[in-house]
Amino acid sequence: MTDPLRFNEKIYDPATATVGTTRVTYRAFKDLTYVAQPVDDCQKLNVFVPEGYFNGQTINGYTRVTAPIFMPNTVGGYLPGPRDFPGNPAPFSGSTTILQALKRGYVVVSAGLRGRTTQNLQNEYLGKAPAFIVDMKAAVRYVKYNAGWLPGNPDRIITNGTSAGGATSVLMGASGNADFFETPLQEIGAAPATDDIFAVSAYCPVHNLAHADAAYEWQFNGINQWHRQRVRIENNQRICTPIHGQLSPDEQVLSRELKAAFVLYLNGLGLRDVAGNPLTLDAAGEGSFKQAIEREILMSAQRALAAGTDVTKYAGVSVTNQMVTGLDWPRYLHAITRMKSVPAFDALNLSNPENDLFGNRLTPARHFTQFSQDHSTVSALLADPLLVAAVNPITYLMTKQSHVAPHWRIRHGAADRDTSFAISMILATKLANRGYDVDFRLPWATPHSGDYDLPELFQWIDNLCR
Ligand code: DHB
Repeated sequence: MTDPLRFNEKIYDPATATVGTTRVTYRAFKDLTYVAQPVDDCQKLNVFVPEGYFNGQTINGYTRVTAPIFMPNTVGGYLPGPRDFPGNPAPFSGSTTILQALKRGYVVVSAGLRGRTTQNLQNEYLGKAPAFIVDMKAAVRYVKYNAGWLPGNPDRIITNGTSAGGATSVLMGASGNADFFETPLQEIGAAPATDDIFAVSAYCPVHNLAHADAAYEWQFNGINQWHRQRVRIENNQRICTPIHGQLSPDEQVLSRELKAAFVLYLNGLGLRDVAGNPLTLDAAGEGSFKQAIEREILMSAQRALAAGTDVTKYAGVSVTNQMVTGLDWPRYLHAITRMKSVPAFDALNLSNPENDLFGNRLTPARHFTQFSQDHSTVSALLADPLLVAAVNPITYLMTKQSHVAPHWRIRHGAADRDTSFAISMILATKLANRGYDVDFRLPWATPHSGDYDLPELFQWIDNLCR
């Protein structure tokens, strides 16, 4: 009997695309089921391989067996992340990213992942946490199981994603081969292989959801107006309508409580700067941890200024003699504005995407923090804390229980307000403290977005892999 999980290099579509002024020729292996017992049609992946690797060519210094395997995901809003392909017109598509990666000589694998709205014919939910990460791990296991069959170097897998997809990428990097996922992986018939990876690329990863509410209020407490976009998709176009709101007096009380809770959490993490000094906060939320974030923002502004950007677009940035000399934190936060109400993630009425993520087979949405469960305004259940911890990358950096990726590149826009700067800062700092290789920046004036610096991302990959 043929092995359903064995990659077959004979079945493909030849394809050509123009990337800038270059013609890129590649083979597309599409719609490959990556688990033996799929529960949803989305559990398939596409593999794209530069044509040259099938006739002995070297591309960008790589060969068929040494090429990095780049695995971008399309997860956004913790919704299902469909498998992607060049020329895909869907708004979530990373078509350009795939083509640029192929031009660079990478093998690209795009796996479809279940998400919070995935349902079966009986209307049961099949994609609540931890399904997104179980599927991503199963896709990596498929790639590794096919070492030698599937072109590329399975010891050089790099995941990439933005926002919830960034969270997927960082969780892949943190939780390699962790026990928690073994049973769900067996249940869907994942290939017998490991799922640890070589490197992580993540843009604005919306992760550490258990502490994201507290981090958000630590940052935005005192700013009582929020401004966001309501997004709907029509004819493959994203249509955004601005909406605004004001925190109620009750929400302002919750904001203060959450801010205080963040100080306790942060001080328990044992973070240190590069010189080994503790990064902490006092009861007012001030201290070396906050100064470290301010320094990152100042360095970002300085780099932008040196490149000719007017960095006074956002209030609170002082420039003297072509040097960024100061950051007025409250003014800067007023300028980038608060996006979310309180709590930002675990909504008291279960209305946020993250509540939906933590539903289960028969429950659309649940709380995932004791704080919101205690203050809930609806009849609600609390997700198992072990599950909430298992999908939090920080868990794996506090006690050793996984194979952590050695290399990390994390970008979080300096104008991003979907989650606190603290969330990415904690991740980057904890990784560095544990000795992993981390390249972390808050790119200037950059909102919640990803893949905006592909040449630099690919240079980083080449420096590691070539
Ligand atoms: C995403 C954005 C959010 O603000 C959030 O809370 C969760 C996910 C996203 O863009 O994926």
